[in-house]
Amino acid sequence: MSKYLVTSALPYANGPSHLGHLAGAYLPADIYVRFLRMCEEDVIYICGTDEHGVPITIKAEQMGITPREAVDRYHEIIRRDFERFGISFDNFSRTESPEHYRFTQEVFLDLLEKGHIVEKSMKQFYCDKCNRFLPDRYVGGTCPECGSSNARGDQCEDCGTWLDALDLLKPVCEICGSTPVPRETNHWFLRLDAFQEWLEEWLGHHDDWKNNVLNYCKGWLKNGLRERAITRDLNWGVPVPLDGAEGKVLYVWFEALLGYVSSTKELFAKRGNPEGWKDYWFDPETRLVQFIGKDNIVFHAVIEPSVLHGLGDFILPWNIPANEYLNINGKKFSTSRGTAIWINDYLDHFPPDPMRYVLAINAPENRDTDFTWDNFRSRNNELADVFGNFINRTMKFAQKTFGGIVPESTDPGAPERELMKSVAVARDEMEELLRSFKLKAACLRVMDLAREGNRYFDQSQPWKTARTDIDKCAATIYCSIQFADSLRILFNPFIPHTCEKIGKMLGSSSLLWKDAGKENIPSGWKLGEPEILLEKLKEGFEKVMRSDESATADEGAGEPEVKETVSYDDFMKMDMKVGIVKEVHDIEGADKLFRLMVDMGDHSRQLVAGMKPFYSKDELTNRKVVVLMNLQPVKIMGVKSNGMVLASDDGKGGVYLLQPASDACPGDSIR
Ligand code: 2FM
Ligand code: ZN
Repeated sequence: MSKYLVTSALPYANGPSHLGHLAGAYLPADIYVRFLRMCEEDVIYICGTDEHGVPITIKAEQMGITPREAVDRYHEIIRRDFERFGISFDNFSRTESPEHYRFTQEVFLDLLEKGHIVEKSMKQFYCDKCNRFLPDRYVGGTCPECGSSNARGDQCEDCGTWLDALDLLKPVCEICGSTPVPRETNHWFLRLDAFQEWLEEWLGHHDDWKNNVLNYCKGWLKNGLRERAITRDLNWGVPVPLDGAEGKVLYVWFEALLGYVSSTKELFAKRGNPEGWKDYWFDPETRLVQFIGKDNIVFHAVIEPSVLHGLGDFILPWNIPANEYLNINGKKFSTSRGTAIWINDYLDHFPPDPMRYVLAINAPENRDTDFTWDNFRSRNNELADVFGNFINRTMKFAQKTFGGIVPESTDPGAPERELMKSVAVARDEMEELLRSFKLKAACLRVMDLAREGNRYFDQSQPWKTARTDIDKCAATIYCSIQFADSLRILFNPFIPHTCEKIGKMLGSSSLLWKDAGKENIPSGWKLGEPEILLEKLKEGFEKVMRSDESATADEGAGEPEVKETVSYDDFMKMDMKVGIVKEVHDIEGADKLFRLMVDMGDHSRQLVAGMKPFYSKDELTNRKVVVLMNLQPVKIMGVKSNGMVLASDDGKGGVYLLQPASDACPGDSIR
């Protein structure tokens, strides 16, 4: 027995989970972990949300809420998405936890003391208009490598090059659009260069890893490792624990990687054994297996090992089975481009297992794979026709011919012995595949086994022998029931919800891998009621889903509430434009209202808005808003209001201003 510490990349708490996330880092890990547990290995499965960094602050700004509100909201949404999909973490933490703050600050100080971190002055873009430094994605510009105008301060969206913001051509502030200027600032750097030789040697011992991981690392090492800034000028994140470092936080990647450790610490604190985490992280025998998407390779295979090695004591990754991307209809899954399929939207309409099966059998293990609903439908129907059908016909037959009692098999012949032998063969082959992260091949293998079951059933013709040779019929059904139970065990890592149902029908609950291929269900055993396990789908079935993020806010209760229909012409009568709030004033005697002066590009407008309970003056000043221009002017509390600022209202006291995209300008019309 070995000890396993399995992790999935900590997802950013800046949106719900989509299929691309699941296919890369979560479902494969869950299948692996469920399998290891069935082999009675000592395994813990660790994750949590990544709640800092620019991806969070930008999302919060777009939503017009604070970063804390954003991460609270999305932590919960993501946690629930995973739970509903059956991702069986032992702990799902968050990097906003006090334990994580403490631990990452300790690590920072420890590395500083050991000389692996040094302070240096550097130049960084500063926006004079916004009065702030612009870390990472706050700067946009043209990529010096490929010339794309889609580059950001950390990376080019198009060619993927890892960039230094100062190398961007035509840099712009992503907040206000003005041109930022380089300014001196102090930061702390991780001396990655000092780990180069050690890393080369260490990676050299891992030629069993996937090629994508090894090649990526080789590329990095070939270019020579450089010192990397691991702090940022941001007001959201884990503060740098030093005097004189006010306004600086730890770089999100530096601390998020340590989230695997702090989540383990949290797990053992919950278990009442606060020191228990050390049994995993400090035991050189522990196999640390980290499931990630390919965009995370450098962090897990270069930066994290350097940090852990620099600290001493800690184990290093035993394997990093990074996956490629799952595309949708040939395009990259993208939250911002609206080409995502949200898992909660899917789960509001369909059960998790067909999707688990389809994502496993099409897993992007070695190359990008494409998700289409047509393929989903045919794979779903295959699962129902082959696996579902075998279980169903066996159960029904046992019910009808033997009154739901497992018959006695007095005369098992060669076909029965062969069928059970084929289970043992498949079990061992699958074990080898699963242990070497070939989950897709393992899934194909168990499906082939189910096909063998159907062939056996067809060839045995129990519907005939029921009339001509009842002993033979009994042998067939007895064997089919044992086979069904083995299929339940071997399919369990992939489609656990369905397998649990089968377990209830068979009255069998063993989840031990080694029990596949055995005769687990004795003659005379009373079987449960058969039920349909998997539904077949018709063309166009997916139309019931929506493909926008609003699906996440919907708890799926009954009919959608929509006001009376208006014509297009009526809608077009409304004149809505982008504006920027320039002044915010109190109104005497009104505790909910502000008087706003809004710059509309070509003129300025006075509006009265009920925003005081939701926003401070500071939060409103310089914020872009959407204004309904041609609403009949009114006087409110004696103040003239010439239009209306648009906001969303969740009906539970949450009111959020609509936020035009960062590129929108005052005077732009809404259509
Ligand atoms: O790419 C991402 O979604 C990152 N949030 C992954 C972080 S993994 C690790 F650092 F925790
Ligand atoms: Zn700016």
